[in-house]
Amino acid sequence: MPTPLIIDTDPGVDDAVAILLALRSPEVDVRAVTVAFGNVGIEHTLPNARKLVALAGRHDVPVAAGAARPLVHPRAEQAGDVHGADGLGGRAAELTALAPLDPRPAVEVMAAVLREASEPVTVASIGPATNSAVLLAAHPELAGRIGRFVVMGGALSGGNITGAAEFNVHCDPEAMQRLLTQADVPVTMVPLDLTLRCAAGGEWVERLAAGGPVGATLAGIIASYRAVYSKYFGRDAVAVHDAVALLEAIHPGVLRTTPLPIQVACDLGPARGATVPNRRADAAGPPVHVALDADIPAVLDDIATRLTD
Ligand code: RIB
Ligand code: CA
Repeated sequence: MPTPLIIDTDPGVDDAVAILLALRSPEVDVRAVTVAFGNVGIEHTLPNARKLVALAGRHDVPVAAGAARPLVHPRAEQAGDVHGADGLGGRAAELTALAPLDPRPAVEVMAAVLREASEPVTVASIGPATNSAVLLAAHPELAGRIGRFVVMGGALSGGNITGAAEFNVHCDPEAMQRLLTQADVPVTMVPLDLTLRCAAGGEWVERLAAGGPVGATLAGIIASYRAVYSKYFGRDAVAVHDAVALLEAIHPGVLRTTPLPIQVACDLGPARGATVPNRRADAAGPPVHVALDADIPAVLDDIATRLTD
């Protein structure tokens, strides 16, 4: 029986890989794609999500608009320099088909999926956690219907948008604090510490390019992201952060996790958005299942296999 899945996303190049991965994996039943601001503004992330669901041929999957900004503090950065001004590496205009837009707010679509599901629903959060935090605030009675959150986010050893913070957390630290410390829902967190190690090389991208129409389209979307990573990191490799997290949602246990209580720095100082583990035996707070290791070649091979014909 496939696991019911909600994908909450800010597409985003690696989100594109993750969304297509999930929609092409029989182990999960994608019940909704909900969208927020993040890599670029929601004026781009929302149509991008509709384009990607259409690319998968899955017009049955509701796509709904959620948060256009964080819960508390307006945010500064986007990541258009990495994902392109359109969020899809400059290729968004080439994707002309759009999946239908569900007119309900994202949180109401999430709530409806939870009410209607006959078994616990996995929520994959691969952008800012704002929609999930609002869901928990508006519908606390539904928290028990969430099997777990699988969150791409956080960093235990240095960030990517600031020295301390990973991008998704930095977009809305208060929202991520809600999920990681007060959600009353199990959380698997997939941080940069692992996803940066899951950098896919040029031959992986070429495998996608030669692997049929979906793979070729994703390879095109990845092209500029690949160039940026080469410039930033000096190697021909792309970090498919969100796809690694979605593979865990699809194949539970594929990532090796360590239980650690996590606190999120929500002050306005230089460490804002830092995810701070507490390894003390008497640490307070619920353990977050932090993914710190995996068989990385096998993870990347599995992702590529699912995306190619
Ligand atoms: O830090 C990586 C995360 O931030 C990924 O989800 C990427 O899409 C961006 O949203
Ligand atoms: Ca993302």
